[in-house]
Amino acid sequence: MKLVTARLRLDALCRDDAVALFTYRADPAVCRYQGWRPAALADAERFIDEQSAAAAPSQGRWCQRAIRRHDDGALIGDLGFCVADAQAEFGITLAPAAQGNGYAREALRALFGWLFGEVGIHRVHASVDPRNAPSMALLQAMGMRQEAHFRESLLFHGEWVDDVVFGLLAREWADAAGKDAGIAALR
Ligand SMILES: CC(C)(COP(=O)(O)OP(=O)(O)OC[C@H]1O[C@@H](n2cnc3c(N)ncnc32)[C@H](O)[C@@H]1OP(=O)(O)O)[C@@H](O)C(=O)NCCC(=O)NCCS
Repeated sequence: MKLVTARLRLDALCRDDAVALFTYRADPAVCRYQGWRPAALADAERFIDEQSAAAAPSQGRWCQRAIRRHDDGALIGDLGFCVADAQAEFGITLAPAAQGNGYAREALRALFGWLFGEVGIHRVHASVDPRNAPSMALLQAMGMRQEAHFRESLLFHGEWVDDVVFGLLAREWADAAGKDAGIAALR
């Protein structure tokens, strides 16, 4: 699966991405609220190899995609999604230098368009620590609704943390996408 937007390309991670992926994913400011924190470059390489081994997105399995800029092909982030029973959970990460440009919104618009349009899912959802202000803002900007706030429901790197769940239905996305799909091409 490969998606193309006005400024971005979402495609497979490759071995050449390992250093960039490790550098931003191991950054304490980036991985603070994330489950996967590579401790060494080899972790990033293994992660990419595991992703490459899967031929295509499949039910119940997390699928990770690179987020690249068109102009220089640079890896600026990655997103992951997991489709199960017509619903998809997702997460997204940008390198610090790429943040604040609207790239995450642009990438998620393409992902949602593909999930709702091509895959035909019913609902997307995401889980976020409420202290993660940029992520909360991103999910709200995507038109998602806060549906639950669980108090200290996750034991995360040794700390009990809150979990806020955001959701969006296919018919709600159809309204939002009508205003601005943001997808230049989809293939
Ligand atoms: C979550 C995360 C991806 C959000 O990244 P982001 O850069 O804030 O999000 P966007 O790409 O949508 O950019 C939005 C910002 O760009 C600005 N912007 C600039 N140009 C823009 C454009 N052309 N279109 C839209 N927004 C634009 C917006 O005003 C907004 O800035 P603001 O927050 O100061 O208002 C990022 O903070 C991150 O990687 N965090 C660490 C990983 C993480 O915790 N992920 C969990 C995700 S569930």
